[in-house]
Amino acid sequence: MKVSPSLLSADFGNLVPDLAMINSSEADYLHLDVMDGVFVPNISFGFPVMKAVAKRCEKPLDVHLMIVEPDKWISQVRDLGAEIMNVHQEACPHLHSVVQRIHNAGMKAGVTINPATPVSTLVDIIEDVDLVLVMSVNPGFGGQPFIEHSVKKVAELAALKRATGSKAIIEVDGGVNASTGARLAAAGAEMVVAGSYVFGAENPHDAIHSLKVL
Ligand code: DX5
Ligand code: ZN
Repeated sequence: MKVSPSLLSADFGNLVPDLAMINSSEADYLHLDVMDGVFVPNISFGFPVMKAVAKRCEKPLDVHLMIVEPDKWISQVRDLGAEIMNVHQEACPHLHSVVQRIHNAGMKAGVTINPATPVSTLVDIIEDVDLVLVMSVNPGFGGQPFIEHSVKKVAELAALKRATGSKAIIEVDGGVNASTGARLAAAGAEMVVAGSYVFGAENPHDAIHSLKVL
């Protein structure tokens, strides 16, 4: 399983040790959650903070934009050196065009779906994206309980991948720990985001390892 720890649950007053922990861990990515107070009912951090983080982070960045009009920020996300740019399906009326523009900027394009957005909305985009991010909580906050229905959605997405031959990576975000992670892995998840499970752990390296082995 690929693991993308979310900085949202790190200590914002002292990020350096948390970034050192990520750098020395088995994590595959660092997940950055950008919130605008419009698309989601919370505001997290923006480009000045992410630039400082990117300088100290040795893992590739997996940027998750929980904002309206995410296409306005493609070049700024590219300038961070991000590998993956995730936009919400619900925030993009012209999703195909946004995906093309993310690719033209040299990044992998991820499309994110909220808990109430069906997998079937991805039928006409799945072959064009590098990643689908399934939200297993309503976006906006770390530490929320896992929505069990997400396991079924991951299985549906895995079936859609097989049917279309799409190479999109199935990533899941929200309430992930070793137990929910195991159920997601069995359903076909290939990558998980984990915030509170990693940063709230007594030993974050062990928490990351417990997801890596799934
Ligand atoms: C929620 C964010 C998540 C969040 C996950 O809106 O997209 O990435 O950090 O936090 P946990 O793992 O604590 O549910
Ligand atoms: Zn996220």
